[in-house]
Amino acid sequence: MYQPAITGTGVFTPEQVITNDELVVAFNAYADRMNAKNAEAIAAGEMAPMEHSSSEFIFKASGIEQRYVIDKSGVLDPEVMHPHLRQRSDDELSLMAEMALDACQKALDMAGIAAEEIDLVICAASNMERAYPAIAIEIQKALGAGGFAFDMNVACSSATFGIQAAADMVRSGSATKAIVVNPEICSGHLEWRDRDCHFIFGDVATATVIERAEDAKGARFDILSTRCATEFSNNIRNNNGFLRRSRPSGVEDRRDMQFMQNGRKVFKEVVPMVSAHILAHLDDEGFGGENLRRLWLHQANKSMNDFIGKKVMGRTPEREEQPNILQDYANTSSAGSIIAFAKYSDDLDPGDLGLVCSFGAGYSVGSVLLRREA
Ligand code: COA
Repeated sequence: MYQPAITGTGVFTPEQVITNDELVVAFNAYADRMNAKNAEAIAAGEMAPMEHSSSEFIFKASGIEQRYVIDKSGVLDPEVMHPHLRQRSDDELSLMAEMALDACQKALDMAGIAAEEIDLVICAASNMERAYPAIAIEIQKALGAGGFAFDMNVACSSATFGIQAAADMVRSGSATKAIVVNPEICSGHLEWRDRDCHFIFGDVATATVIERAEDAKGARFDILSTRCATEFSNNIRNNNGFLRRSRPSGVEDRRDMQFMQNGRKVFKEVVPMVSAHILAHLDDEGFGGENLRRLWLHQANKSMNDFIGKKVMGRTPEREEQPNILQDYANTSSAGSIIAFAKYSDDLDPGDLGLVCSFGAGYSVGSVLLRREA
């Protein structure tokens, strides 16, 4: 058995930004158009008018101030309301692979290893842009990595579940140097026309290198243990899928083929599930919340993180103890906790403990307990 360790992380951040104000202007223009189009039905009381969104609400309800996206032109066009992402030919690199490569290269540089040394690539994300061949295998080829590669999807928990899979393989010896990459094109599955959720997501890619601690060339985080759990819920759901064409009603563009959630229920049910999960994980390792120097949580909602942080630490955590990045990135699904880890882990001292935790659709929750080593 080998001790697995994280030796590198990388974040690809798209160039384009949408502020809450820009988003709200586009949404409200869309709502006005829809209300004008449906004026007769609205006047007859057959349908309710669309209400305006507001930046104040978005910030207060979520803590989000802006989001990065691959394409803002389509999202901000009230005639379009989704990103413009052109179909690439089979000879071109897919968009997910392109984003992934940037994050992977940064993670490899940090670890000080060459891509050829990688013998496991896991592409773990909420959505795959095609069914097959696996995006991970395309990334493996583009990197020039060896070994094997596969895709996995556990929605917002994809990164931590991927890290558990990679860490277990490095521990047992079936892989020696792994990279877990999370290209999240959330703008593609967000319903930008829905006032309740149009502000939630952004695009990003993160990558994490996991190898034997004894092979680390610099500072590292030993993976002391991981814990994954799932419990079925329909409260976050997307009914898009490969059977779409075969429905007797034909190919439809229904609302439930984009991201759907019952946000209030998610909030109420997931907060206790996550804090209990983290505390049980720590307890089984002989620790408590007071032993954690840092908590890198999933980045969906600021109040949700405040609740979880307080329950785990037994007090309100200092800002640097539980860093949030969602004000800049919004919810980036599985990548959120890894962005927080990548940006806020350098200052830890040898021996310090920290925990990465993601949670979301499924429901799913995954936690990774780390100890900084020199
Ligand atoms: N602008 C202005 N007002 C809005 C609005 C918008 N964009 N969207 C909703 N509102 C209004 C509602 O109409 C409602 O008004 P009412 O009280 O008069 O009925 C009010 O604001 C509250 O709406 P609600 O949807 O209950 O807000 P909320 O406080 O629950 O916040 C979320 C919404 C989505 C931010 C929050 O529930 C959440 O973050 N949940 C967890 C989400 C999550 O983690 N999901 C995981 C995804 S991976």
